[in-house]
Amino acid sequence: MAGGWFETVAVAQKRAKRRVPSSVYNAIIGGAEKGVSLNANLGSFDQLGFAPHVAGLHAERSMDTKVMGLDLSMPVILSPTGVQAVHPLGEIAVARAAANRGVPLGLSSFASKPIEEVVEANPNTLFQIYWSGGRDVMVQRLERVKAAGAKGVIVTLDWTFSNGRDWGSPFIPEKMDLKTMIKLAPQALSRPGWFASYIKHLHIPDLTTPNMAAPGEAPPAFFGAYYEWMQMTPPSWDDIAWLRSQWDGPFMVKGVCRVDDAKRVRDIGCTALSVSNHGGNNLDGTPSPIRVLPSIVDAVGDEIDVVLDGGVRRGSDVVKALAFGAKAVMIGRAYLWGLAANGQPGVENVLDILRGGIDACLLGLGKSSIGELSADDIVVPPDFFLTLGDK
Ligand SMILES: Cc1cc2nc3c(=O)[nH]c(=O)nc-3n(C[C@H](O)[C@H](O)[C@H](O)COP(=O)(O)O)c2cc1C
Repeated sequence: MAGGWFETVAVAQKRAKRRVPSSVYNAIIGGAEKGVSLNANLGSFDQLGFAPHVAGLHAERSMDTKVMGLDLSMPVILSPTGVQAVHPLGEIAVARAAANRGVPLGLSSFASKPIEEVVEANPNTLFQIYWSGGRDVMVQRLERVKAAGAKGVIVTLDWTFSNGRDWGSPFIPEKMDLKTMIKLAPQALSRPGWFASYIKHLHIPDLTTPNMAAPGEAPPAFFGAYYEWMQMTPPSWDDIAWLRSQWDGPFMVKGVCRVDDAKRVRDIGCTALSVSNHGGNNLDGTPSPIRVLPSIVDAVGDEIDVVLDGGVRRGSDVVKALAFGAKAVMIGRAYLWGLAANGQPGVENVLDILRGGIDACLLGLGKSSIGELSADDIVVPPDFFLTLGDK
């Protein structure tokens, strides 16, 4: 990690901004519309405080846990993200880092590396699927994922194809042909470290999606895969129940913020759900997940694993989510910034930062394990929590 080490996720973000071309950096910042949900995800964690003890603290503290039947060395999962062009090793580097630190990863349908290579790097891989391509195509994708050895499936349901941001959307080319390379050359050359890493791996960011390829065919480009998804009629709960029935293992629905939806997820036999607003990338104005988490845990937390994602940047954020009943959190941007800043060691660095932060909170709160955390450890402002759709 020599020279590349960073002490917080915020520092990783600054390094990432300096290291990768602006269009790549803007793509991993994302957000939707005015950025209300994006900012609220961060601000909501800041509104919560701690009620620490000062003596009687524990010299040894544990944070290992189990989610979707998988062993986690700490309550963190790497959330699925399409990481085209961030780093030449992309999801392989992410998977190796996760394996080295004992945590699972979600592999996006829009990932730049094939499921087979990712599972080889980390057997604890959960494949993320969208309602895309039709039933036969989805069955064929799940068969491939099963054959590759993925441990579970995440279906992501919160997406509304909103396509505007007040701060501008990054240019994402249709394909990486000569004309596009010439157009992007000034950006690439302005980031020599990033450019050199691609030269070193003899790779150009080709923006293809190998896990969306039909059997025996070349991987479609990002936009080809995206259009396929856009053309689908949005799924009903019966459709999602059907999808769940096609996978005989751990199955998560990602993107839930309402109690009534959480109950449906439970009723169709899913093993987990993620309380999430897609990191503020979806319907802007959707409340931050931490504000709706307790209502969802109350409703279904005894029956399925409830995790949370959105806005986690510190170990203390993880601890706040766990105190309100999440079994674990999933992180997105934090590890993407680590990957952009320093490749695989950068992702490991981010996981180490979260581990250190969780441990410091356990120490200060007088806990010997994450299982002892409770709402009493947290200072909550009035009217902070929301219950949506409780019927
Ligand atoms: C650049 C980027 C790409 C993403 N791509 C996907 C995706 O392909 N599938 C998915 O389910 N979620 C995707 N997400 C959402 C993440 O899985 C996760 O919900 C979100 O990043 C959590 O918020 P955080 O970034 O504040 O941690 C993406 C997020 C980002 C930032």
